[in-house]
Amino acid sequence: MPTQHPDLDARTSGRFTIGGDLEVTRLGFGAMRITGPGIWEQPRDLDGAKQTLRRAVELGIDFIDTADSYGPFVSEDLIAEVLRPYKGLVIATKGGLTRHGPNIWRPVGRPEYLRQCVLMSLRRLGLERIDLWQLHRVDPKVPEEEQFGVIADMQREGLIRHVGLSEVSVETIQAAGKHFPVVSVQNRFNLVDRKSEDVLEHCQRENIGFIPWAPLDGGALAREGSALTEIAKDRGTGPGQVALAWMLRRSPVMLPIPGTGSPSHLEENVAGASLQLSDDEAARLDAQGAEAWKKASAR
Ligand SMILES: NC(=O)c1ccc[n+]([C@@H]2O[C@H](COP(=O)([O-])OP(=O)(O)OC[C@H]3O[C@@H](n4cnc5c(N)ncnc54)[C@H](OP(=O)(O)O)[C@@H]3O)[C@@H](O)[C@H]2O)c1
Repeated sequence: MPTQHPDLDARTSGRFTIGGDLEVTRLGFGAMRITGPGIWEQPRDLDGAKQTLRRAVELGIDFIDTADSYGPFVSEDLIAEVLRPYKGLVIATKGGLTRHGPNIWRPVGRPEYLRQCVLMSLRRLGLERIDLWQLHRVDPKVPEEEQFGVIADMQREGLIRHVGLSEVSVETIQAAGKHFPVVSVQNRFNLVDRKSEDVLEHCQRENIGFIPWAPLDGGALAREGSALTEIAKDRGTGPGQVALAWMLRRSPVMLPIPGTGSPSHLEENVAGASLQLSDDEAARLDAQGAEAWKKASAR
């Protein structure tokens, strides 16, 4: 569908090819927030959540991140209901985290469970193959080789096209790389959370897609009073847009997936795709963010 407003086009963020053959718009959509409080059960505003999904596609987003554990199942179910048959869309999902209530997440990496995750995501999403399946967490209680081994089997069997990892170190990426090509890494990263800087550098060197979760620091960077307000005011935009523009500029392998269940917040976030920061603005933000991160990590 054509985009109405020239500034509201996610495609202005540029393109990235995941795993050599999955080309996506760099600004994607995180579908964790189309669930209820604590990422549990149905969203309070179900119509708004469905509208957000539709609007994301209208605005040129073709990369949607979800997981079986969001709801659980609610996010995948809504994506299937609203977006199937996914013409031109890449639906990236994850498995390996179990849910026992709002805000409770526990890893289970036993091979039979990971296989069940993939089979059930295929069924819920109505797909024959998952374009990008990500191991949500490496389970510390299960040998890594067993977790990576079953994922490699499922890729060979054609259930999964590409494999990504989440919350991992460079060492773990390299260990997994002995079993399958790691095409994406999803770690927490934003202007004020730089813990995964070394992983980002590794991904950039290896041309692995880096999918930063919490690109708005869980919403804090979109609120007035954050480190970004000054530049946002100068540019007549919102702080969230500035945060996303900084992310997109930070690395060509960066694929931010801001999450929202609100169509108006989605539109604000997409506006960040076309915001070009000057070298001076980017340097100021970088310094402010690094300082905030230094203080936070010293606590
Ligand atoms: N791999 C992992 O372990 C992991 C962990 C967490 C998340 N994720 C993925 O990463 C995605 C992004 O992370 P996230 O959703 O936690 O954090 P985020 O994108 O940094 O922030 C989302 C929060 O910010 C609010 N928000 C979004 N846009 C806004 C705007 N323009 N103005 C004001 N508030 C705004 C949202 O509330 P509203 O809904 O009210 O807009 C929501 O509470 C998730 O959706 C999920 O797909 C992955």
